[in-house]
Amino acid sequence: MRYQEFDEQIDGLLAAMTLREKIGQLNQIPEPKTPEQAEAYKERIRRGEIGSIILASSATAGNEKRKKGAAQEDSQQKKGAAQEDSQQKKNAAQEDGWQSNINTALCNELQRAAMEESPRHIPLIFGRDVIHGHHTVYPIPLACAASFNEELVEKCYRNIAREAAAEGVHWAFAPMLDLSRDPRWGRVIEGPGEDPYVAKVMGRACIRGFQGEDLKDPDSLAACAKHYIGYGASEGGRDYHRTEIADYSLYNYYLPAFRAAVEAGAATVMSSFNDISGQPVTSGRKYLTDILRGQLGFEGFVVSDWAAVQMLMRFGVAGDRADCARLALHAGVDMDMVDGCYGENLEALVNSGQVPEEELDNAVRRILRIKFAKGLFDRPYCEPRRVDRAGHLADARALAAESMVLLKNEGVLPLKKDVTVALLGPFVHEKRSLLGSWTLDYQIEDTASLLEAMEEKLGREHILFSADETGLYDDSVHTAAKADVVLLALGESWEATGERRCLSDISLSPSQQALIHRMKALGKKVVGIFFCGRPLAMEGVAEQLDAILYAWHSGTKTAEAVCDILFGDVVPSGKTAMTFPRRTGHIPLYYNVTSSGNFVNGYYGEEIFPCYLDSVASPAYPFGYGLSYTTFAYGPVTAEKTRLSLQELEAGKRFRIAVTVENTGDYDGKEVVQLYIHDRTASRMRPLRELKAFQKPLIRRGEAARLRFELGYADLGFYTEQGEYLVEPGSFDIYVGGNCLADNRIRIEVL
Ligand code: BGC
Repeated sequence: MRYQEFDEQIDGLLAAMTLREKIGQLNQIPEPKTPEQAEAYKERIRRGEIGSIILASSATAGNEKRKKGAAQEDSQQKKGAAQEDSQQKKNAAQEDGWQSNINTALCNELQRAAMEESPRHIPLIFGRDVIHGHHTVYPIPLACAASFNEELVEKCYRNIAREAAAEGVHWAFAPMLDLSRDPRWGRVIEGPGEDPYVAKVMGRACIRGFQGEDLKDPDSLAACAKHYIGYGASEGGRDYHRTEIADYSLYNYYLPAFRAAVEAGAATVMSSFNDISGQPVTSGRKYLTDILRGQLGFEGFVVSDWAAVQMLMRFGVAGDRADCARLALHAGVDMDMVDGCYGENLEALVNSGQVPEEELDNAVRRILRIKFAKGLFDRPYCEPRRVDRAGHLADARALAAESMVLLKNEGVLPLKKDVTVALLGPFVHEKRSLLGSWTLDYQIEDTASLLEAMEEKLGREHILFSADETGLYDDSVHTAAKADVVLLALGESWEATGERRCLSDISLSPSQQALIHRMKALGKKVVGIFFCGRPLAMEGVAEQLDAILYAWHSGTKTAEAVCDILFGDVVPSGKTAMTFPRRTGHIPLYYNVTSSGNFVNGYYGEEIFPCYLDSVASPAYPFGYGLSYTTFAYGPVTAEKTRLSLQELEAGKRFRIAVTVENTGDYDGKEVVQLYIHDRTASRMRPLRELKAFQKPLIRRGEAARLRFELGYADLGFYTEQGEYLVEPGSFDIYVGGNCLADNRIRIEVL
């Protein structure tokens, strides 16, 4: 039991609380928009009717163009000693060159109403969508996953927590752990990609970073593993649409990251908007109670997604708002995000016996656990503090560089610093898109455009650019003709990604494709730098370019990191965490596929019958793929023992696998050494490859590293459709290499 230590205090509170106060704890409201609203909220807080505030004023706040927060401006005119005091601090901080969109002073005022004037003095918990950065913005999570650098990701999420906590945020609505096989879905930017193991590792890193050693630490944020569950599997990559997930797939693909998040101590979980095969998750007791609490052992609380409780009516499973509240609470949704269904209806439902009071008490208990664990009873207020961000910005640059993936390099990169480059394309001057979607608190002044960063690196005299950013007119052709190499800054806007930002065609825009063709015709070396939130379909594009650096939307330091890589100050080491299809029509295309049984599995080249009559279905770039400036040679995979019995594995014995990786090129470099398994014969079909481990050593040129991996009981099994974990005797192929197509293998036997 994780939160037992608070039981006595919680029992005491529950015994004293009225029904209405209990329901209040389950009620989350959006931030007030006007001073009048703030006053009205205070009244409700005093009556114990509000348990939490989300510091956002709309469902897609993270996706919207920045506006000045109305509540913030309005409340600056308000009086009140405490507010003035902290407003002064805020103003001082702003003069110092940074801005907060969070009105910490107002949060403190609302908190004071809860702590001093409400009957039970229970603190509010303030949540915010702190997704991949606060003032310092780090790469979008899909890019973080491509770094395959768990330690650096954890460090950066610690930085994020420090910055957000300094302004009064208690709780971040991240990490998003939704596995997705569909890059049309706009929210792939927010997740770990297509692989359950990467999702596990990256989710854990974020949670550890947010929550630190102790949730009580003033620098820590409570994490929220979201969206539980299956949201990334929406049909056609259409946001919010239905999903079909059989239990076998649920347990083996979609649940592992949440299981790991629970083990890592994630304080909260957000239920997802979608339905699974006709069962909305918000009212799915099987998912939220039986599996999440019963099987995964989650003891924190579940918050609904934005207004998702009332959506049960639109799903057609609830007749009215009272029904919505009854169903969601019974399913296991503890906190109702913003739609007020709980607040309006639970009292009558309990009084009429339709909702057992025990169900309500359990939800309150789970919320109070986290408020105690976060230390809010002892330290409810925030003294806004200035965080020194120099280290954070350096980490952002390092993580951005590690996230970028070199997809192609025909002897062009790295560039010498004395070359003359032509810099063209729609992203030459762009800043906002480099930050990515879902960032509310960025400081645009910290962000350089690619042109600015390159000037810093090379000096202006080496860079030719054109007033015509599209490159489609003569001016840019003339400019390019004078250069040694043409650099094209390409990609998609941040507004093409994120919530409700799905695409039916993920190819590069026609005008950018025309630009590539035009430049290629000059006979120059052409390098494409792609600023994107998703893998794009690369057919017709990749062939035209001599080198491709996939830079993603990598946050505040994107442009500097691109220059670090282009000019060889950093050797690229990112690997794809999501397959790059050749065409949109090939989606879904993912590496951990099972055999088709009929020789039509395009991914691994068994294409005896073509998948499509009109194209080759193999990926443009497979999962785990990425080039370096150096080269690595893999020695044979060895195993200390190739046979272990099931009993030995159960008793904790492990297969010890090793491989030597030699740096055979001219640069020191990091390599993501990946270990995959294939369970050759089992009672259920198993994927042709499953990533089970990776390491990212730095190997100096001319040197070799001996890497050791262990595979035990927990790595070799799978879940049945009932959620039972099974390791079955039989043979397993163990592949170790630089991407999922690696064929360097050894066979082991479980007896
Ligand atoms: C999103 C969540 C987000 C919430 C609060 C919803 O629309 O799906 O990911 O945390 O809004 O902003």
